[in-house]
Amino acid sequence: MIFKTNTCALFGIEGYVIEVETDLSNGLPGFDIVGLPDAAVKESKERVRAAIKNSNFQFPQKRITINLAPAGIRKEGSVFDLAIAVGILRASMFILNEELDGFAFLGELSLDGTVKGINGVLPMCLSLKNNGIIKIILSKDNADEAALVNGMDIYPVENISDMVEFLNGKKDILPHRVDFNAILNAGTDENFDFMDVKGQDMAKRALEIAAAGAHNVLMIGPPGSGKTMLARRLPSILPEMSFEESLEVTKIYSIAGLLKDKSCLITKRPFRSPHHTISAASLVGGGRMPHPGEVSLAHYGVLFLDEMPEFPKNVLEVLRQPLEDECVTISRVNGSITYPAKVILVSSINPCPCGFFGDESGKCNCSLIQIKNYLGKISGPLMDRIDLHIEVPSVDFNDISGSCKGESSASINKRINKARKRQLKRYEGEGIYFNSQLKPKQMPIYCPIGRQEKELLRNAFDRFNLSARAYNRILKVARTIADLEGSDDIKQDHIAEAIQHRSLDRKYTI
Ligand SMILES: Nc1ncnc2c1ncn2[C@@H]1O[C@H](COP(=O)(O)OP(=O)(O)O)[C@@H](O)[C@H]1O
Ligand SMILES: [Mg+2]
Ligand SMILES: [Zn+2]
Repeated sequence: MIFKTNTCALFGIEGYVIEVETDLSNGLPGFDIVGLPDAAVKESKERVRAAIKNSNFQFPQKRITINLAPAGIRKEGSVFDLAIAVGILRASMFILNEELDGFAFLGELSLDGTVKGINGVLPMCLSLKNNGIIKIILSKDNADEAALVNGMDIYPVENISDMVEFLNGKKDILPHRVDFNAILNAGTDENFDFMDVKGQDMAKRALEIAAAGAHNVLMIGPPGSGKTMLARRLPSILPEMSFEESLEVTKIYSIAGLLKDKSCLITKRPFRSPHHTISAASLVGGGRMPHPGEVSLAHYGVLFLDEMPEFPKNVLEVLRQPLEDECVTISRVNGSITYPAKVILVSSINPCPCGFFGDESGKCNCSLIQIKNYLGKISGPLMDRIDLHIEVPSVDFNDISGSCKGESSASINKRINKARKRQLKRYEGEGIYFNSQLKPKQMPIYCPIGRQEKELLRNAFDRFNLSARAYNRILKVARTIADLEGSDDIKQDHIAEAIQHRSLDRKYTI
């Protein structure tokens, strides 16, 4: 007789129901797992055998065949341990529950029979629910996270014996519940507000534009001028995340095993600031057991590359695809997987190798060649994805010593929400949401300009020797500035301000 139960596999950020079929037959004792298991799943045999024995159940002296279906999906990791053990215990009549096919089992086993937590429980539970499986047995460590999915019965168990008693009706376990309102209202204590930034009005204005149109930015300024401080505050003026966005971000953190407070949905937009020693695989994701990279952990939020020229060129190169496609595609032997990666990229550089080029202090001795080499480390294709160049000069003494507070993030946020609404309405049905996403062929439709505006742009191009790549970038940013002002038309003022935010194109052209 064949006994069936369920577990779940992950592919990208989606879960797939895996049916576990167990067959015991007479013959030479053996233990086989079939259905495209990888090496880690094969190791599960030894853990399951030891866990069953050490929980004082007899391991069957029969020929055991476990089939993980559908066979087309590669099975990775240790998540299937628990379901395999349940299959064997059912087939050998230690578990007598007739309705195991209504359950899913998610967990790794210790040799002593303890059920251990796994990564990715949230996306797994979401897909199990979509497939009509709402009764889940898993480790206590995963209970809070699983209970985030409404309308499921989550039964946390300590170990195998615990679970067998529950399934045999000898022990009550109440479905685990979490206080949903508390979860939604729980924020982090960290509070990064633009109010704390003194002066730097130009830079703040530029970040407001970046937030309004979801534009990637590059900040240029000497050390200590406040670039990191400003970047850290960008998420605080972005629109609040919707519930769906929260859930998607939380799924990614669940898979990466990075949910710090396991009972919380991530409701604040992420800010990720990887160090420049990061590998390409950690930045965009990958590896033998694929995991989301920093660019996906920053999904719906901000990815900050501090001192960008310090990052190796090959690491910066791999960012091109996710910035273009808003997702990361990782090729694998049997197909590719995708992690979402919709981010605003904020990067910072010093204006020259010593950091003080153009500073009033006059400390800089760098030659123009040295400066060009330094800036040249950022590849052209990456620069092509950056709409705004923000100059962040050393803070003015009067500003830093004054007691007057800047405008609060909440107040800036109101203007951004209005500008975003205009964009959502304008791009309805286009499959894009913000000005930064405009494709070249959409530009003439959504960013038309009059004769005078064209003249202004032409003059700027001649005077500052702007590159061709600057043209569409300036227009997109001008579109956002017009949206912030509530204007349907792009006017001269908007274009003039947008040109100001292309300082790198202007300054260093020889
Ligand atoms: N405009 C400012 N208002 C208030 N404090 C500032 C400002 N700029 C810099 N600081 C202070 O200087 C510190 C260093 O700034 P930081 O953001 O690390 O500079 P950078 O990243 O440009 O090197 C900050 O932590 C902050 O305390
Ligand atoms: Mg810094
Ligand atoms: Zn210098």
